[in-house]
Amino acid sequence: ERVTWEADAAEKGGYEHYMRKEIHEQPESLRQTLAGRLDVSAGDVDLDVSFPPGFLADLEEIRIVACGTSYYAGRYAAQLFEELAGVRATVEIASEYEFGAGRTPDRTLVVAVTQSGETADTLGAVRRANAAGARTFAVTNTLGSTVTREVDGTAFIRAGPEIGVAATKTFASQVATLAMLAVAVGRDRGALAAADARSVLKDLQGLPGAVQQVLDEEEQVREAAREYGDGEAFFFVGRALGVPVALEGALKLKEISYDHAEGFAAGELKHGPLALVTPDTPVLAVLTDGARAAETMNNVTEAQTRGAPALGCVSAGDTYDTLDVSFEVPNVGVVEPLVANVYLQLFAYHVANDKGRAIDKPRNLAKSVTVE
Ligand code: G6P
Repeated sequence: ERVTWEADAAEKGGYEHYMRKEIHEQPESLRQTLAGRLDVSAGDVDLDVSFPPGFLADLEEIRIVACGTSYYAGRYAAQLFEELAGVRATVEIASEYEFGAGRTPDRTLVVAVTQSGETADTLGAVRRANAAGARTFAVTNTLGSTVTREVDGTAFIRAGPEIGVAATKTFASQVATLAMLAVAVGRDRGALAAADARSVLKDLQGLPGAVQQVLDEEEQVREAAREYGDGEAFFFVGRALGVPVALEGALKLKEISYDHAEGFAAGELKHGPLALVTPDTPVLAVLTDGARAAETMNNVTEAQTRGAPALGCVSAGDTYDTLDVSFEVPNVGVVEPLVANVYLQLFAYHVANDKGRAIDKPRNLAKSVTVE
């Protein structure tokens, strides 16, 4: 027993949980994700993937299928595909996906996002897409996984093994990989100018350092978790790219702390959830979405008027005096909300840790779910 315990402790490299270790590994895992793939001077990306001639130019739609955290990475990516690659992009929960009417299989790319490459729901969606005649693609962490054998092409996220059931570093690497794919598709289709691509690539280059800056603020998050962690429920809000991050922040907190947490588009707060807001329901806001952050802040203020404490992830250079806690997010363009997410990971971790939860193996959950 003692030997096992020591081996386990060594594996965790001095951290008490794999989850916290993996949160802290993100600057390095992101460096691996990006290594050798960014050609900033050319304004292009080399993901070592290829498509039939003319396929990307004629593309009508990218449909992303995924589950859990990977689904939120997909929600983030869909916005990037529309913005950077100029192509309609939709996201579907893999277990709900059907090819559906009114779509053209040979002008559709179905992208499965799956850390393990073994999720039964996602494999089922890939099989339905293949059966319909669509071109399929996987974004995964796992070499040789089942999904890689069933799709037409794969991009590996290179995040390294993730032991904690709650996905952390793999979410970051999924979004970074999908952002590169969006640049590659945009360049190939002529939808993205070299200068615009270059600016996205520079933001991607800045991502590991920006994540490190957030990790250096862990003490601030630990204190906020101590002060606000015993809320009755937690609401996470954001706009645009902040929405998937809000959803992922809520998922992380509920998975490991067992507290009720919900994420939604900030504008929806007033269309229902506001009825649940009290002084015991902290609101966590992603305020990184440029001009739209001020609108999000208006929604947050509506919650504060009902007594809710408000914590915000705020773009460096912006200030909202009324927030109870401000977490500063370095300016890295379209990946800024991804950096904000690291604060939410740390918040979930410390709330759960203060409650003594089984952080690496939450009750009822599995790392990889191989039944539909
Ligand atoms: C399980 C895990 C989640 C994960 C989801 C999808 O539910 O607990 O952390 O996000 O499966 O897994 P995948 O391997 O397909 O990304």
